[in-house]
Amino acid sequence: TAASTPDNVDDVLDAPSAKTAAQIAREVQRRRTFGIISHPDAGKTTLTEKLLLFSGAIQLAGTVKGRKSGRHATSDWMDIEKQRGISVASSVMQFEFREHVINLLDTPGHQDFSEDTYRVLTAVDSALMVIDAAKGVEEQTIKLLDVCRMRATPIVTFMNKMDRETRDPLELLDEVESVLKIECAPVTWPIGMGKNFRGVYHLIKDEIMLFKAGEEKADGDYEIIKGIDNPRLAEMFPMEIEQLKMEVELVHGASHVFDLERFLSGVQTPVFFGSAINNFGVREILSALIDWAPAPRERDATVRAVKPEEERFSGFVFKIQANMDPAHRDRIAFLRVCSGRFDKGMKVRHLRLGREVKLSSVVTFMASSREQVEEAYAGDIIGLPNHGNMQIGDSFSEGELLTFTGIPYFAPDLFRTVRIRNPLKTKQLHKGLQQLGEEGAVQVFKPVIGSDLILGAVGVLQFEVVASRLLNEYGVDAVFEGSSISSARWVSSDDKKALSDFESQLAPQVAYDAAGNLAFLATSGVNLRLTQERWPKLQFHATREHA
Ligand code: G4P
Repeated sequence: TAASTPDNVDDVLDAPSAKTAAQIAREVQRRRTFGIISHPDAGKTTLTEKLLLFSGAIQLAGTVKGRKSGRHATSDWMDIEKQRGISVASSVMQFEFREHVINLLDTPGHQDFSEDTYRVLTAVDSALMVIDAAKGVEEQTIKLLDVCRMRATPIVTFMNKMDRETRDPLELLDEVESVLKIECAPVTWPIGMGKNFRGVYHLIKDEIMLFKAGEEKADGDYEIIKGIDNPRLAEMFPMEIEQLKMEVELVHGASHVFDLERFLSGVQTPVFFGSAINNFGVREILSALIDWAPAPRERDATVRAVKPEEERFSGFVFKIQANMDPAHRDRIAFLRVCSGRFDKGMKVRHLRLGREVKLSSVVTFMASSREQVEEAYAGDIIGLPNHGNMQIGDSFSEGELLTFTGIPYFAPDLFRTVRIRNPLKTKQLHKGLQQLGEEGAVQVFKPVIGSDLILGAVGVLQFEVVASRLLNEYGVDAVFEGSSISSARWVSSDDKKALSDFESQLAPQVAYDAAGNLAFLATSGVNLRLTQERWPKLQFHATREHA
């Protein structure tokens, strides 16, 4: 390529490819792709809605999805489908804010909790952790943060519900540090809580944002007082300000100062306090995501790492969702763009199938309008309709043979044995489970002994969805029964003899997954631990890479 001296800069920029390259780089730089990790009820839905409202992407509260009404506990097919139909539309929300394009990926919770929830996190560049300040760190947050840690994803933390009686803020930070093993750098600090919640003190800007309750008010609609020593504050809240000064001194002494590099490498999280329902603190969160969270970064693939600003398009599928209409077996594959520019109608190579496909009827996800977006860049998500020929982990590229790595399967926590009422349908059962397994709807294990199959999932709704889909799409009436298995681990070793000894000696607890990988099915935590101790030459894995 031509060296650019001050004289020929314009010539270089005029060349079509330099223009394209510059444009791609610009688009990549202004993108932020993140997901929210939280335990059910911490306020994810509320915060999502406020983020969209604040950015002007939606005008009315209540648009994101019905909260309680959307929580279903029945196995009714239509209910599930309806719910999933809604979540197709809201599973990726793209909006613009301060000249940035933000892709917010939904991480399904409640009964929708499934492996998808985990895998979505492999497609984001940062995550927003929402914690209910009255409850502290909860179970689902721990699991999701573990997944983020696999790629050292930067995390922004929001301590929500400060308008309620909460736990002591210092204690909350301690808990995050000790349970989640991540350094906390408080950026805002709460003044009081519950009925006496007065606002937050911004530790970096040295200013106080006064809290005002009200669901309908716009974010940022609060008074700011400069300086913690401002005499006005002492007049307004004589009690609270003394307390605040003491706490701030403690915080300065005992906790970490925000450090961008540490945040970007996933070892430190900036912490904000606020109240999502009152739209208080949402602007700070958005600013942190824009100013601090990373733009799309390089992703690992076989052969080489792929840079987002490369000119040629590439991406991978991280989630597959069945369509609303059970009569059609249409699915939408969610693809994260990793490099280049997607143009509607372009031809790309589907690497696993070794085939060219034309991406014409692609779904995009602008939260503000139904307009069909014609182009997409690294960090964006596009939906590819297909008839079951796509799998989780599939890579697409404009020619080059590379497969993205790091799209894992997670060891399930819940297990069912599957039987069929009509033995003549065995073939359909296997075919159905094979396809549903490839889609990532459920994991299928075939024990070395016996003919029953074992299904594994991380969320209980996965079993209900699979049962209804087997019936509706494959005509198989399957019976799911409880199983004595409590966890699974994929087993590997360089020592072939040890592996085959293991397989024969522990046959009743050994199975192969749908992709033919050896797995150990443990009946309890103790059983797993003892087995690991007894077989030191084997490695037991809680995740496995897409093959
Ligand atoms: P989720 O998606 O994480 O499950 O949580 P969601 O936003 O649905 O919020 C769970 C509950 O917490 C909701 O109340 C919501 O109104 C409430 N909430 C969210 N943010 C705040 C906050 O800042 N302060 C207070 N006090 N409450 C908050 P709900 O009664 O379960 O549902 P709804 O009937 O209000 O919709």
